[in-house]
Amino acid sequence: MSALAMPARLARVIPPMEWPFFAEDIAAIQRLKRERNAIILAHNYQTPEIFHGVADIVGDSLALAREAVTVKADVIVLAGVHFMAETAKLLNPSRTVLIPDVEAGCSLAASITGADVRLLRQRYPGVPVVAYVNTSAEVKAESDICCTSGNAVKVVESLGVSRVIMLPDRYLAKNVAAETKVGIIAWAGQCEVHERFSAADIATLRQSHPGVVVLAHPECPREVVEAADFAGSTAAMVGYVGTHRPARVALVTECSMADNVSVDYPDIEFVRPCNLCPHMKRITLPKIRLALETMSHAVTIPDALAMRARRSVERMIAIG
Ligand code: 13P
Ligand code: SF4
Repeated sequence: MSALAMPARLARVIPPMEWPFFAEDIAAIQRLKRERNAIILAHNYQTPEIFHGVADIVGDSLALAREAVTVKADVIVLAGVHFMAETAKLLNPSRTVLIPDVEAGCSLAASITGADVRLLRQRYPGVPVVAYVNTSAEVKAESDICCTSGNAVKVVESLGVSRVIMLPDRYLAKNVAAETKVGIIAWAGQCEVHERFSAADIATLRQSHPGVVVLAHPECPREVVEAADFAGSTAAMVGYVGTHRPARVALVTECSMADNVSVDYPDIEFVRPCNLCPHMKRITLPKIRLALETMSHAVTIPDALAMRARRSVERMIAIG
């Protein structure tokens, strides 16, 4: 067993008796990162032993895309789902991008293909296509611009048109439509994690935890966002907690979020009405270690496709 001491931040979220299960993999991953000149980008939904134990850069989808552009390392390990690794590869064609489990998908990305986008364009000629970053490179290549939950309204309004096609999340589309005058044509996809929350859940939460401040992700149904005190991307939720310091807060989103954020706010009570993302949970310390040992699974995207898909992501990043 490794003699590596448990980092103080991790000690706030992992019981000391669990540390021996993680210590050896964490020590090996830190060594492999140095040997391979690798960095780990981790999404906010990764488990705390990854998020606080081995990640170099953490954030929401937008932050990970932005950071991927500035990375100097030879190897990027994306601790997140497949579309995030693809986005990192699009922005770093010359670097090796590894995803520790190729099966780490996303119900939104799986809900639409490039052929579907071509059919939408035929049906709505001349209407620009805004693709949520939770899509395959193939779908990004067929779209005009990408967006994330952190910049969706800004992206839609940047196009200067009266109507856009926004895909694939019908709930995000509805939530964006409520904040803009631009008409939104939506696709019928949904996030299998956020679609399960209801307004009744929020009412129960408020009853059982008086005074709780409810923050919801915009992939939740409209009724949930309306019942919440604030809606925003995972990074926006972190920002809200840091700025407003509510005594009691509920993050209506994936389960690891509250674990990760609570590390920095021991004085705040985090109520946990969460749902697990089975895709995010495919990424584990042993798989990250194996990815760095074997340099697999490297993300590859055919050049012609990558060129078109990159354009959509870069247009989004240029908007900020
Ligand atoms: P953000 O972190 O961009 O808010 O996205 C949430 C999500 O569901 C990513 O899979
Ligand atoms: Fe996809 Fe939802 Fe999981 Fe995010 S939380 S990866 S949107 S299924």
